[in-house]
Amino acid sequence: TRVDKGGHKHFMAKEIAEQPTVLGEAIRNYLSSDGTAISLPGDALDFTKINRLTMVACGTAFYACLTAKYWFEQLANMPVEVDVASEFRYREPPVTEGTVALFVSQSGETADTLAALRYCEGKADKILSVVNVPESSIARESDIAFPILAGTEIGVASTKAFTCQLTVLLLLALEAAKQRGTLDDARFAELLKNLSALPGLVNIALDGEPQMAAAARKLAEARDILFLGRGVMYPLALEGALKLKEISYIHAEAYASGELKHGPIALIDKHVPVVVLAPRDSLFDKTVSNMQEVMARAGKVLLVSDRAGLDEGGDGTWLTLQMPSVDPVLSPILYAVPAQLLAYHTAIAKGTDVDQPRNLAKSVTVE
Ligand code: G6P
Repeated sequence: TRVDKGGHKHFMAKEIAEQPTVLGEAIRNYLSSDGTAISLPGDALDFTKINRLTMVACGTAFYACLTAKYWFEQLANMPVEVDVASEFRYREPPVTEGTVALFVSQSGETADTLAALRYCEGKADKILSVVNVPESSIARESDIAFPILAGTEIGVASTKAFTCQLTVLLLLALEAAKQRGTLDDARFAELLKNLSALPGLVNIALDGEPQMAAAARKLAEARDILFLGRGVMYPLALEGALKLKEISYIHAEAYASGELKHGPIALIDKHVPVVVLAPRDSLFDKTVSNMQEVMARAGKVLLVSDRAGLDEGGDGTWLTLQMPSVDPVLSPILYAVPAQLLAYHTAIAKGTDVDQPRNLAKSVTVE
């Protein structure tokens, strides 16, 4: 099927805008019709028998895995290991009893991820994958392939595939939590309800695009940009920095907020914007003190938070972007929108080729 830009200037813009729709489809596909239970495709998966989950991927899919590690650990009390495929495959890690291996790939054809999967064949109890292309090599070689239902993604910088990967990974973590009895029924029900409402919040976040574009025009003047996040928002900071460097060619790095003082704070001066992705969650106070350390060194903070977070932590910041408030478990999916749109509009301001960034390929099928 031929895919066009549907009135958008770039495929990336179209794919960002499609997220409320495709996320809604992915969520509905994995929930019972009344929305109160999770139904997974393929053979029944017994999460109580899993001693360790090993997740392997490349690029943006790797950051989806890093995010999911927080969910599987916190919601399902499941030990998780995450690695980039190019390291995993050559390290020859032991795959011990009770290990389930999970590979995440938009294309399902990334050479390193496929090789890592083949390394686990005959060693892992089960091989699972989370893919966008159901007929891909990675899907075919898995015991169970979970489709993310994002639809064709053309933009080299992954956007809707990332949020759909996160959504499917969260549903797997919730099912694991249910089976392992690590989440009480009321919280489980509440999370499913909040997840079903998430596409609506993503729509509201998308309405903030003009403000994000204005902030991006200022970011476009920088040579280096830092991204900070804590807890489940740390992998999203990594993804925000990756998106920005991929398409705007501005040097961007991400750190866990608490690591700032262990090195990167040396880089802070009035020329280095610091993008802080921080909903008002249980770790927010700690992030505010990290921001204050930045501002005390004349650093320019762009704080992305909700109303409560901006009220509490907005003083002295350079710029702010307001997000709707959201269940803290779901915040990486919602805050992916400003991460994507900041990168997109920074690239537009710089005049770079958004859909076909230099030196990058959509799918890396060679080593
Ligand atoms: C390439 C793409 C990235 C993608 C990565 C992994 O580097 O440019 O956007 O995240 O490959 O691709 P996959 O298809 O395995 O998710």
